[in-house]
Amino acid sequence: MTGFLTVREALGQGRDLLERAGIQAPRLNAEILLGQALSVPGSLGFRPDAAWFYAHSDRALREVEWIHYGRYLHQRLAGKPTQYITGRQEFYGREFAVTPDVLIPRPETELLVECALKLGSRSGIAVDVGTGSGAIAITLALEGWSGPVLGIDISARALEIAHRNARKLGAKTGFVHADLLSPFADHTLDAVVSNPPYIAEADRPSLQREVVAHEPGLALFGGTDGYGIYCRLIPQALHALKPGGLLAMEIGIGQAAELSQMLAGWNDIQTFPDLAGIPRVLTARTPANRR
Ligand SMILES: C[S@@+](CC[C@H](N)C(=O)[O-])C[C@H]1O[C@@H](n2cnc3c(N)ncnc32)[C@H](O)[C@@H]1O
Repeated sequence: MTGFLTVREALGQGRDLLERAGIQAPRLNAEILLGQALSVPGSLGFRPDAAWFYAHSDRALREVEWIHYGRYLHQRLAGKPTQYITGRQEFYGREFAVTPDVLIPRPETELLVECALKLGSRSGIAVDVGTGSGAIAITLALEGWSGPVLGIDISARALEIAHRNARKLGAKTGFVHADLLSPFADHTLDAVVSNPPYIAEADRPSLQREVVAHEPGLALFGGTDGYGIYCRLIPQALHALKPGGLLAMEIGIGQAAELSQMLAGWNDIQTFPDLAGIPRVLTARTPANRR
């Protein structure tokens, strides 16, 4: 690409390059990357306002904008996810900072937040296990969970991003560097919410190249069969939760039956489908009258 093109031309060239490389939603990705290069104001600062591109289609790019845009396109063509290029992702209507140290929050995880808000006793203590960017813990705190909300992660670098997001979004969320629920005494929590790593190592070859190459393996893989973290988290949650406490977990495709069996002895086991009809969230309560 040579010369300083207009916005319309730059968008067209970017879209064509991305399309030829087989990247999904090439026009949208070109808009986001050009929007980033031009600092276009937009909803959430993530997807720039499409109307801006129409209104400014004849504006010529400045040299520095052109250089940035070219670099972003180059990174995207090399497989880097758009969110790691722009450093942000929308979740539940808010903008979260993301770096390659954290999973890019997925839209289906919003269902987990909704289930926790609907079924949990909101004045109690909630813990988000494997908080990553802090998307779940922060959203709970900002969407009406009035009790304390804590995010746990074994990755100190992920917790730095979670802290940054909580500060920026004004959430009173605490963060703890720990292995699953190890810091908590028995019968102290009201809700355990988690989107743990649940992909089987065996499925690694079938994953999208950009996911495996760029997102942290610690956030993706749950051991050989994908159940490694659940196998430890479920018994720990049974002890850490108060009687009648809520466990809400995101689950992978085809994991509902096996996980329901692991929850033998729990009450009110339910699954909730995502927009594609796939059971995506599993909830259960500890027995009300145990000691
Ligand atoms: C699938 S990501 C979820 C991130 C975020 N909650 C979200 O939904 O976008 C799983 C997270 O669990 C963390 N994790 C993995 N093993 C862990 C462990 N043993 N204890 C605590 N966190 C762990 C990873 O570092 C990663 O941030």
